[in-house]
Amino acid sequence: MPDYKLVIEGGRELRGETYVSGGKNTSLAVIPATLLAEHPCQLDNLPDIEDVRALVQILRHLGAGVEWRPDQKQMQVDPAKLRTNTVPFRLSQKMRASYYLMGALLGRYGYARVGYPGGCNLGSRPIDQHLKGFRALGAQIREENGMVVLEGKLRGAKINFDMVTVGGTINVMLAACRAEGDTVLTNCAREPHIVDTANFLNRIGARIRGAGTDTIRIRGMSKLNGGGYTVIPDQIETGTLMIAAAATRGDVTLHGCIPTHMEALTAKLLEMGVLVTSRDDIITVQLRQGHRAIRLSTQEYPGFPTDLQQPMSALLTRALGTSEVIENIFDSRFKHLDEMRKMGAKSVINGRVAYIEGVPELHGAPVTAPDLRGGAALVIAGLMARGITEIYNSETIARGYEHLENKLNALGGSIRREPVASDVYGYANSL
Ligand code: EPU
Repeated sequence: MPDYKLVIEGGRELRGETYVSGGKNTSLAVIPATLLAEHPCQLDNLPDIEDVRALVQILRHLGAGVEWRPDQKQMQVDPAKLRTNTVPFRLSQKMRASYYLMGALLGRYGYARVGYPGGCNLGSRPIDQHLKGFRALGAQIREENGMVVLEGKLRGAKINFDMVTVGGTINVMLAACRAEGDTVLTNCAREPHIVDTANFLNRIGARIRGAGTDTIRIRGMSKLNGGGYTVIPDQIETGTLMIAAAATRGDVTLHGCIPTHMEALTAKLLEMGVLVTSRDDIITVQLRQGHRAIRLSTQEYPGFPTDLQQPMSALLTRALGTSEVIENIFDSRFKHLDEMRKMGAKSVINGRVAYIEGVPELHGAPVTAPDLRGGAALVIAGLMARGITEIYNSETIARGYEHLENKLNALGGSIRREPVASDVYGYANSL
């Protein structure tokens, strides 16, 4: 994708209705999980995002038959004839979720050679817990020229994660599905996409119980069949759109979401004075007056998601009073606040705590998206700001949001893409 910037004319209220796309982080787990099957799988409600595009490239490189129709949100994967178990670094570093190829290929073939994953630069992001889980299942692991080589016949095991890890929980679950015997994972992450991945695997013949709790039990199966599955809506896109609605003092109704996944955000928005109502798969967000500062602390699900901390802190730049935001999951997830200072926002960062003093107004400025959710936060800041905001490195936003600017424009925003001359550099493309 050629480099482009987003140009936002701020100060317009968002009003109207839109829909939420399929879950990014669910899709990025379920697509590699299809490789555990013997027969074709059909996935529905997949988002049209760059990370899915990169994953399709990886699956095709491996030899899987992939037919993706983004306009129909549908993908067919035929995993029958893989020609290689190697995911080269040039492909693995395109995204974080390439680490799922380790669990999927190891589980299916007892051998995988995968480059280290990429992903947003949020500080140190080791995968030691993934590797600890694979080792406990019987894999020998070595590093060869920067590639992780995993090999061995897998047997069920009891594994307690040292910390709660989303990727680690899913990855070890993938491998354990085809191990011999039973596996019990404890201290697991409980995010909705872990449940969704387990539901998909069970649909194609796996036997997984307890996903969504801190203990997951897996009976290894000698083979998994194929089958169809519809992925859940994106929790983080839902939240981003909810926050954008509040930030512009708008009135927006979102369709196709799961309100129970949004409880931590909804509670905080209500505390700030934003009106949030929901029924069935619909959420409405309205804000008429100013909103109050809050104290926010990111936690694993069902706590406040780290992925919404950045969009939420954009909203806090205009709250009445000073907010305290504590980032408990990642070392370095406040770079967007440095950028927002160029727009008149006031914040002080002390390690994993940011103090954001609300200001009456932001003004447009050229800024750089530091990472995916930081980019979304800058879009929200741009929508709130007086004048024109230009967001460089905006390709990073398309990695995880389906046509974000189109959705916001349909609600009354004014955002356009403009090509960037090749001599303009933002952050290194680190996602
Ligand atoms: N951690 C370790 N060792 C491990 C694994 C994790 O020390 O082996 C640490 C991490 O460094 C981090 C914490 O544990 O401090 C949590 O990491 P986790 O493994 O839960 O995160 P992840 O798998 O790297 C996924 C999402 C992220 C999301 C986090 C937390 C995908 C592809 N990525 O990352 O999504 O922020 O879970 O919910 O699912 C995003 O969508 O913008 C994004 C960054």
